[in-house]
Amino acid sequence: MPLADAVNIRRALLADVPRLAELSGVLGYPVAVDKLVARVARLLGRDEDVLLVAERAGQVIGWIHGAEQELVESGRRCEILGLVVDPEHRRSGAGGHLVVAVETWAYQRGLEEVTVRSAITRAESHPFYEHLGFARVKTQHVYRKPVAAPGAMRA
Ligand SMILES: CC(C)(COP(=O)(O)OP(=O)(O)OC[C@H]1O[C@@H](n2cnc3c(N)ncnc32)[C@H](O)[C@@H]1OP(=O)(O)O)[C@@H](O)C(=O)NCCC(=O)NCCS
Repeated sequence: MPLADAVNIRRALLADVPRLAELSGVLGYPVAVDKLVARVARLLGRDEDVLLVAERAGQVIGWIHGAEQELVESGRRCEILGLVVDPEHRRSGAGGHLVVAVETWAYQRGLEEVTVRSAITRAESHPFYEHLGFARVKTQHVYRKPVAAPGAMRA
């Protein structure tokens, strides 16, 4: 691959937000740029979160969000909370570079494990994580409920 096509991984900047928003839409989570500016500004200010982008020839082609979490039952760990690569740039190593960069960040923080939850429907992500050495350990259901004011009647 010519050097100009090499993938560069770096920390995300607020200037990346329009492109992060586009790629978030690709991931299935469309978000308005102004909302994402505020969200990314908060994330960039948090030591426990890392937001990285993959660039090729000066264009952002993917992003990853990793975070340190501390669970009562299992202690500190890193979780990959979001990852997407532009469909036109897949299968050329960008996703792998992003995950390895989060693994390096986790190692530098003294974390011993990286977890990722991947929807069953994201078929391409399963061989991807296995290729990177992740082992599938369980399958879960995800439940959601809107938060209501305390005491409000709920159906
Ligand atoms: C999963 C995703 C991030 C992979 O990004 P990518 O840049 O294409 O990944 P890489 O090029 O680093 O792939 C590394 C290896 O993973 C495996 N892999 C990746 N995509 C694959 C696919 N569609 N089918 C089979 N294996 C795949 C291959 O072994 C690949 O190596 P190879 O291309 O030399 O065969 C990308 O497909 C994507 O954004 N998918 C939609 C969003 C998503 O699923 N995110 C993860 C949610 S947890």
